[in-house]
Amino acid sequence: MKNNAKWIASPRDVGCAAVSFRKDFCSQKQIKKATVSASAMGVYAFFLNGERVGKGILTPGWTSYRHRVQYQTYDVTALLRSENRLEFGVGQGWAVGYIGYGHSNHFFADRVSLIAWLDVIYTDGSRERIVTDESWQVYSSQVLSSEIYHGETVDLTASVERIGNAVLSDVQTKLIPQVGEWITEQERLSPVEILRTPRGELVIDFGQNMTGYVEVRAKGKRGDRIVIHHAEVLDQDGNFYTENYRAARNENIYVLSGGEDLFKPTYTFQGFRYIRLTEYPFEEVEPKNFTAIAVHSEMKRTGDFSCGNEKINQLYHNILWGQKSNYLDIPTDCPQRDERLGWTGDAQIFCRAAAFNYDVERFFEKWLGDVALEQNKDGSVEGIVPHCLPGHHSRVSAAWGDAATVIPWQLYLSYGNEKLLKKHFPMMKKWVEYIRHAGPEEYLWLDGKHYGDWLAMDNGPDSYDGATPTYYIASVYYLHSTALLIKAGRVLGYDMGEYEDLYEKIRAAIRARYMKNGDLRLLPNDWKEGDGEPTLKTQTAYVLALYFGVCEEAERALFASRLAEMIRENGTRMTTGFVGTPYLLHALSENGYTELAYELLLQEKAPSWLYSVCHGATTMWEHWNSQKEDGSFWSTKMNSFNHYAYGAVLDWIVGVASGITPTEQAPAYKTVRLEPHPSKALGFAKAVLETRQGSLRSHWYYKGDAVYYEFEIPRGVTAKLRLPSGYEATLGEGSYHFAE
Ligand code: BGC
Repeated sequence: MKNNAKWIASPRDVGCAAVSFRKDFCSQKQIKKATVSASAMGVYAFFLNGERVGKGILTPGWTSYRHRVQYQTYDVTALLRSENRLEFGVGQGWAVGYIGYGHSNHFFADRVSLIAWLDVIYTDGSRERIVTDESWQVYSSQVLSSEIYHGETVDLTASVERIGNAVLSDVQTKLIPQVGEWITEQERLSPVEILRTPRGELVIDFGQNMTGYVEVRAKGKRGDRIVIHHAEVLDQDGNFYTENYRAARNENIYVLSGGEDLFKPTYTFQGFRYIRLTEYPFEEVEPKNFTAIAVHSEMKRTGDFSCGNEKINQLYHNILWGQKSNYLDIPTDCPQRDERLGWTGDAQIFCRAAAFNYDVERFFEKWLGDVALEQNKDGSVEGIVPHCLPGHHSRVSAAWGDAATVIPWQLYLSYGNEKLLKKHFPMMKKWVEYIRHAGPEEYLWLDGKHYGDWLAMDNGPDSYDGATPTYYIASVYYLHSTALLIKAGRVLGYDMGEYEDLYEKIRAAIRARYMKNGDLRLLPNDWKEGDGEPTLKTQTAYVLALYFGVCEEAERALFASRLAEMIRENGTRMTTGFVGTPYLLHALSENGYTELAYELLLQEKAPSWLYSVCHGATTMWEHWNSQKEDGSFWSTKMNSFNHYAYGAVLDWIVGVASGITPTEQAPAYKTVRLEPHPSKALGFAKAVLETRQGSLRSHWYYKGDAVYYEFEIPRGVTAKLRLPSGYEATLGEGSYHFAE
């Protein structure tokens, strides 16, 4: 049957309020099967006969709306009666409200629109289809405003009025069935403390920084208001702190009906640990009336890690919650301030760790589809996908655009899906070709404005850009992406000769420009023949040279010792930012410095992973110094307390400490490298990973000086074991015990 469903909108401008679209229909015959499919420009909630349908929230999710929007399909067979009302509430969401730093709205569409169709198959074999068109009725709603960044106002005293018949809406985008995971409500958390700040603010602490919203129960006078603000942290003096949200108001306003009310936002979410009851009409705050609900994409949990060091366990907890908080339909940088954007760099940095915690194949399949659609004609991939910055674009930057090569390859390693790799191969290739033609040199990337070693600590206290020259980073990432392209091409059976040659030339060009006398020389971007020799050395530069194979085998010892020396000189602390940090511990442990890697992991003074843990963090902080020793903040502008990027260290914890690494020879852990590196400081470490083949477990523990190992290998997996003593074995399905 032809689908005549039309995009419809309200006949009257309703500003930032949500509207509802209704259609009544009767069916006399017996129904065999009935489904409703729907999508929106905006965010919709579907009700049938007054009941909310489906587990998904914030539907249809966030895609690159200019290119495509998902629709969801609901089985409503059991819900239909003889007289029915289909109703869709639609709020502004990402498509219509303020987005992309919050300076303007209407980036994808200037008003909310709905498209929906009900398909009924009767037991007599006949069919009926009811579709959105001008016969649908549009009503106002009690959601008087809703914005992703600013929050939602719900007034239960507001009368719901008919606005008129729907009008057709000119939405030009492709409708696709849902590709990604559902966004759903997850954990429910109760208050852990109710406090009065020195300023007298009434604050509830949920004990966990998170993404979602607070459900509020209230029974009070009709017209009374509850006004809630959100915050991630308290400031130096213990007061409620919202400056780091920048333009995002994160304000929910609820007007009581006079009866038993249950409030929560329908079309938005917040990132928070604390709420402030800015207005509250009751004397007492009863904890049972407040429940924080965590919200994220529904992915299957696959990994778990624990060890004998409680701080590292808390770090793992924080990494996990960083992922929960930022895997909300797209991989976001942070869930709270006026961003919540699909930053490509953050996504690629963290994707390896992410694929341990959860099965992220479907989650990334959707987002990578958007990355591919938004890839520019010249092959460039921007800093943010979906693109949503009015008036300008995000940068095309090394280590950000490389999401185009890194993530498809990581998904292949974790899940072994060749079809997906094949689908993304053209995107990978176009990205490499883009770099090849960017700037004056074919074999180096000496052009453009990059984000660099973002938020590194080696360029002065308040710098966003690290000290490592960005063209050096760009060129090494060019090498890395070319390597991944070659690997992908080989898997797919393509002749990669041209790129193998390109790889060698890039490597030689990097060495020629950035090395002298067997050591790095970090030429500044604007360096010219005749300028003096640079003296700058950075940890990140050495990390990249080691990890991405810029140096020869014979040079490794020197490079690693330089890196180790710099770390020692800095009080056994890193200075690395977004680019160097993910590989820092690998660069050390792969080159004989596993002890030092552990020392860094366990370092508690900033910059370090455990600094935030020691200062009460429950998620990963954006900056090593987000909140300083004295309780002050490093910056108000770039200071999220829920930024998963530095959580990439989980890849080392699982891959090196527990020793589980997938291999490219037989991906999806069919052949897995099992090379644990025990440490007395951890006492024990246990990693369990539900691979596509079954549950894989690596566990080691100390008894005195002896280390005991226990491994569990599922059917279909071959583990290449190597223990620190040098003992090697190939293990098939079974449980194993070793001692050294
Ligand atoms: C984001 C980062 C992002 C960066 C680009 C920031 O505003 O929060 O995580 O990668 O911009 O450098």
